[in-house]
Amino acid sequence: MQDKIKDLEAKIEEAQLGGGQKRIDAQHAKGKLTARERIHFLLDEGSFEETGMLVKHRSNFFGLDKQHFLGDGVVTGYGTIDGRLVYVFAQDFTVLGGSLAEAHAEKICKVMDLAMKNGAPVIGLNDSGGARIQEGVVSLGGYADIFYRNTRASGVIPQLSAIMGPCAGGAVYSPALTDFIGMVENTSYMFVTGPNVVKTVTHEEVTSEELGGASAHSTKSGVTHFTYGNEMTLIKGFRKLLSYMPQNCEEEAPALAYEPGDEVRPTLNEIIPENPNQPYDIREVINGTTDEGSFLEVHKDFAPNIVVGFARLAGRSIGIVANQPAYLAGVLDNNSSTKGARFVRFCDSFNIPLLVFEDVPGFLPGTDQEWNAIISNGAKLLYAFSEATVPRITVITRKAYGGAYDVMNSKHIGADLNYAWPSAEIAVMGAKGAAEIIFRKEIKAAEDPEAKLKEKEEEYASIFANPYRAAARGYVDQVIRPDETRQKLIKAFKMLENKVDKLPQKKHGNIPL
Ligand code: COA
Repeated sequence: MQDKIKDLEAKIEEAQLGGGQKRIDAQHAKGKLTARERIHFLLDEGSFEETGMLVKHRSNFFGLDKQHFLGDGVVTGYGTIDGRLVYVFAQDFTVLGGSLAEAHAEKICKVMDLAMKNGAPVIGLNDSGGARIQEGVVSLGGYADIFYRNTRASGVIPQLSAIMGPCAGGAVYSPALTDFIGMVENTSYMFVTGPNVVKTVTHEEVTSEELGGASAHSTKSGVTHFTYGNEMTLIKGFRKLLSYMPQNCEEEAPALAYEPGDEVRPTLNEIIPENPNQPYDIREVINGTTDEGSFLEVHKDFAPNIVVGFARLAGRSIGIVANQPAYLAGVLDNNSSTKGARFVRFCDSFNIPLLVFEDVPGFLPGTDQEWNAIISNGAKLLYAFSEATVPRITVITRKAYGGAYDVMNSKHIGADLNYAWPSAEIAVMGAKGAAEIIFRKEIKAAEDPEAKLKEKEEEYASIFANPYRAAARGYVDQVIRPDETRQKLIKAFKMLENKVDKLPQKKHGNIPL
């Protein structure tokens, strides 16, 4: 037995070394951790249990018969984060560039299958040169096996993807199918076709970082939800992100202990500027209302005219969607609509109640918006709110104009409670624009058209630029002082704790994609 144990230990040691010390050193020299180091820091100390450590590829082409690495370029298994079960796979760039083929893919599929059966999140740490070229179509088959599982698991268990090196070609579609992507600045990139192909086809000269680095995907494409300065901040960020989520769609997110105290927040009375056209930062409202330091913003650098993220209210996890008057006056456009819709759907999938702060002047006009399908994109947000069955509350802080009023979790599309601050203006459009249209003839005929416009603008504003018409109809349940918002929300979400709402029986809806 002693000899056999020694033999086993030698194998384990060999597997731990991945592609060998030289390649581990090269990985470190690039400012990157190895697959095993990443897992070590991600999971609770000592909790990792590995599966498939001794798996090898079965290919003999192009020299692979002489290159067998235990584990086949991916470390897989399970462990805990803050005591909660998670499944993990980490591609090992030191082994054949972390390239994916048959055996490598089978290992990933195995942990995904276990995660589905046992109802726990999957975290993928991606660092790979893509499909293993020497293995041909089995590499492609392996990817598709993973994509299929990503799709089947969508909405059942949370799936997180960390991009910690290359992720190119077909490889990008697994992270793209998961719930959240995080990238590391300067050491990771994602693209369907790399700079060389781009140059050949479109004659554009672009670096990997420009084409598919963390900055490009956080600001331009919106593919990544989070960017981090280095791998350790990503790992810490992912641990925190998971704390807001349940293990699966049948469960609730864990709540933190909460001691009720004085919930009145006087600073909230000071945020809305006197001039309705002056911007303010909606994050002040979010931070002033939710538990201190609890707001975790998602998609921070993409479509800043809408702010989305997780927070806690009296210890309970909630999802926040808020128009941002500090950017483009908080207008809804193509990117902010899809950003909002995706977040709403995540929260609804995983039983996370939704809180909306609304200050929206309408949809952004223009050919760019119309030709890029603001009709379909705006409809996504409308659809996402309408189909959400989690507790849903809206607070209108200032403007709620036009179709955007309907879209932003209005009473009419199923919100449970709608509050408005006394500063709310709920109307078809702003007073000036409205007066120009409905009193056009009167203004033109007036001796002093400017004065007439002003008079009519004030008349329209006095009737509609307030929350009381909507409150009179019951579209707004209560007009509340800003400083009492937090206590109202705590009570309201408590009241909605056992909400049951079911969608009509259907195979699945047809969200306008
Ligand atoms: N299949 C097989 N081996 C691969 C691979 C792949 N897809 N990607 C990388 N490797 C191997 C490399 O051949 C190299 O092996 P070697 O050191 O024994 O020569 C090792 O992994 C490290 O790769 P290297 O190119 O030295 O690393 P790099 O950091 O300089 O570049 C990439 C990384 C990803 C840009 C580069 O490896 C690459 O372009 N790979 C191919 C990408 C691709 O076209 N994939 C297929 C389509 S999805």
